[in-house]
Amino acid sequence: MARLNDKVALITGAATGIGLCTARLMIDEGAQVVITDRNVAAGEVSGDELGARSHFVQQDVCDEGSWNAVMEAVQDLHGRLDILVNNAGILSTEPFQDIEQTSLAQWQAIQSVNVEGVFLGCRAGVQAMKDSGGSIVNLSSVAGLVATPSLVAYGASKAAVRQLTKSVAIHCGQKKYRIRCNSVHPDPIRTDMGDELMGLKGYIDGPDIETNWQTARKRVPIGETGEPIDVAQCILFLASDESRHVTGSELVVDGGLTAA
Ligand SMILES: NC(=O)c1ccc[n+]([C@@H]2O[C@H](COP(=O)([O-])OP(=O)(O)OC[C@H]3O[C@@H](n4cnc5c(N)ncnc54)[C@H](O)[C@@H]3O)[C@@H](O)[C@H]2O)c1
Repeated sequence: MARLNDKVALITGAATGIGLCTARLMIDEGAQVVITDRNVAAGEVSGDELGARSHFVQQDVCDEGSWNAVMEAVQDLHGRLDILVNNAGILSTEPFQDIEQTSLAQWQAIQSVNVEGVFLGCRAGVQAMKDSGGSIVNLSSVAGLVATPSLVAYGASKAAVRQLTKSVAIHCGQKKYRIRCNSVHPDPIRTDMGDELMGLKGYIDGPDIETNWQTARKRVPIGETGEPIDVAQCILFLASDESRHVTGSELVVDGGLTAA
């Protein structure tokens, strides 16, 4: 039997990358999926590619009002929500991000999407699922677990997601909402954001992005950086009933990077 039969999933920032890969996997496992993104052109193309079991809704996750509209769309389409993946995120808005060169504008832009967007998502998700139960999966990063001096704003935002996740999990547990909430922590993954990371000043600083990926691979104990599907499989597990006893946890998907 498919692992998400009869489930309805909402995935933010799913026009590309890890979110899109997760949407594909969840559809293969029997779910109906609503994807959102602020990139309308890419979102519409991805929605078409995903087919009849998907629906694209334009959304900027930082916009509080957008969450009401998205939840209404999910209810109108499917009458329920079982899974929320807070995936939308940004890495940077300027070439440098160490403590000496990070502008307040860059800091605030990153916190706005990566922290406020996930907070708004969790709040809306709890409201939507508190009577029926469900699973919330928040995308954090290895940068939320260990220091990454060239990613001071991004790392802080992802650490906030880790902590927020645990508070949501315990609140829902205490209230007997049957909503689980967990975070996922990938290493550099081959997506648009992964390429952006390889080009960020101060991160690896090799001659070009491909060489920087090779350097990144050598840092990973198993010798490979992850692919979107590696993260998507972990999100699928946390979204499915197979993880029914897992909440408030952090699933590290990094080939051993942070264990070393
Ligand atoms: N790629 C990596 O190396 C990596 C590693 C660790 C964690 N992550 C996290 O995984 C998640 C997905 O990353 P990805 O690599 O697929 O990135 P990506 O850049 O390929 O995709 C992110 C998507 O989010 C959308 N988005 C950005 N801001 C938005 C907003 N305000 N509202 C709605 N949509 C918005 C973008 O348009 C894009 O489609 C992010 O939260 C990221 O921080 C990525």
